[in-house]
Amino acid sequence: MYYDTSKNDHGLPYNPFKALTVPRPIGWISTVSKNGIGNLSPYSYFNGLSYDPPFVMFSAGNRADGSKKDSVLNAEETGEFVVNMSTWDTRHQMNDTSWIMEPDIDELEKTGLTAIDSTNVKPKRVAESPVHFECKYHQTVQLPGKEGFHHVVFGQVIGIHIKDEFITDDGIVDILKMKVIARLGYNDYTLVEKTFSIMDFKDKGKMTKSWR
Ligand SMILES: Cc1cc2nc3c(=O)[nH]c(=O)nc-3n(C[C@H](O)[C@H](O)[C@H](O)COP(=O)(O)O)c2cc1C
Repeated sequence: MYYDTSKNDHGLPYNPFKALTVPRPIGWISTVSKNGIGNLSPYSYFNGLSYDPPFVMFSAGNRADGSKKDSVLNAEETGEFVVNMSTWDTRHQMNDTSWIMEPDIDELEKTGLTAIDSTNVKPKRVAESPVHFECKYHQTVQLPGKEGFHHVVFGQVIGIHIKDEFITDDGIVDILKMKVIARLGYNDYTLVEKTFSIMDFKDKGKMTKSWR
C-alpha cells in the first residue's frame, strides 16, 4: 500500500506512522516550573542525538487548547530538565504521569515515586529509574503540525547517573538487567529482553573504541 500523508488516505482505522517508527525509547522527563513545582511526563518522541558531548531531544505536540505542554514550558523557562529511564518495574507509574495535566500537581509525588536530588540541575530524579541524564536546555525548534505546532526541545546532557548494580564486572552497561521499555504503535510497548552483536569487520571482530 501507499498513502499520501497530507491526505492520510491509508484507509486503516488508525494512522500507522507511529507503529512504523519503532521501538521509540521513552524519555521520562522531569522539570520544575518557574514557581518551583515539579513535573514528570513521558515522551516517546525522544532520542539521543550526539555522543560527545551528548545531546538529546524530546518532541511535544500542543495541548488541545493550543498551549505548550508543561515539560516544554518548564524546560524553556528554567533551562533545565532530567531524562529518567523508563523500565518494566515503573511502567504503570510512567503511564499515570502522562494523564496528570494540572500544572500545580507534582506527578512524581502523586504517583508514589521517590524523588531524589540531582547533582547539577534543579529537577528531581526518579529514584526507581536506573539511569538519569541531567540536561541543560539548548533550544526549541517548532515543526508545523496540522493542528498547531510540535515543539522539539534540544538539551545538552551535562551529567549522567547509572546505578552501580547495572554495570557488570567487565564495565559494560547491563541493559537486560535494567528491563528497559520502549514505545510501539497504538497502546503497545516492547521490553528489551534480548540482544545480539554484530562485529565491525574493519576491526577484525573487535568493537571500535568510539562505540565501546
Ligand atoms: C509512553 C508515552 C509516550 C508519550 N510520548 C509523547 C510524545 O512523544 N509527545 C507528546 O507530545 N506527548 C507524548 N505523550 C503524552 C504526554 O505524556 C502527555 O500529553 C502529558 O500529559 C504531557 O505532560 P506535561 O504537560 O506535564 O509535559 C506520551 C504518553 C505516553 C504514555
